[in-house]
Amino acid sequence: MNKVSAPGKIILSGEHAVVYGYPGLYASASLRMNVELTKNGNRLSSSYANYAFKKALKMHKVKAKPDYSFQIKSKIPIGSGMGSSASLAVCMSTLAQRIAKKKFDLEEINRVAYEIEKKQHGKPSGGDNTIVTFGGYLWYRKESEKLKVFSKITPVKALPKLFIINSGTPSESTGEMVSLVRDKYNKNLDEVVDIFNQIEICSKSLLKNILGEEKNDLGEIITFNQRLLEQLGVVSLQTKNLISLLEKNGASVKISGAGGKTQGSGILLVYHKDPKSLKNFVKSKKLDMISVSLGKKGVKIEK
Ligand code: MEV
Repeated sequence: MNKVSAPGKIILSGEHAVVYGYPGLYASASLRMNVELTKNGNRLSSSYANYAFKKALKMHKVKAKPDYSFQIKSKIPIGSGMGSSASLAVCMSTLAQRIAKKKFDLEEINRVAYEIEKKQHGKPSGGDNTIVTFGGYLWYRKESEKLKVFSKITPVKALPKLFIINSGTPSESTGEMVSLVRDKYNKNLDEVVDIFNQIEICSKSLLKNILGEEKNDLGEIITFNQRLLEQLGVVSLQTKNLISLLEKNGASVKISGAGGKTQGSGILLVYHKDPKSLKNFVKSKKLDMISVSLGKKGVKIEK
């Protein structure tokens, strides 16, 4: 029957700031989610999956309520900053587009997925669903609710390998982390705007690095970005301690995604000049390193 898959995502730079119209730098990840429509599958899926499917059908103007169930198989860790909810929204939007017998249209899939994502937190930037839909590497900016602009990026071949370590599933949802930042923004506008401006500088430096325009220090940018995210209050003490351990071993580390305040903060993006030494360290400390490659294909129809 109908089967689609969509990738997970990594935010290289710009999380949280992107909600306020600052740019974000994104890459799709090799871990994917598959969603298959079945005629008689059992409905074991989460209520969010059911919501996403119904909303997608409505937005793609499917009139008759189809008698389908779906099966979800995913390698993307849930609620850890790797885009599992965006991936689900994009898969459901794609399936509904197929049920509506429309042509495969990425712009439309993305527009509907963005509306589904609003359930997760009222005002998403739209960056997560866009990278999951289009795949590859993207520079993304939400100018206004109706105007979201992005460009595909082709990184230089010599881009160093980046690693992903799981700091633990946050106890807060993305929505909770976004409102936490919103409260801080409302209370301390100047301070938070200053942090966002500096995050934008990080994003641009990283962009120029990825495009091979500047040979700035990748490690320095990542570490500076992490300190700014700590100032925003989206990194737990537990994660800060883990990051400081990794930094002592020579790594540069930042959270990637919404973060987490009380326990884990989701996935960490890690760069090390000497990947072998990082791997040995991770092994000796029994850290949870997730093997992914970046810049993979966006949503696609599976056979
Ligand atoms: C979550 O993956 C990224 C955030 O910037 C929220 C958003 O962009 O909507 C925290």
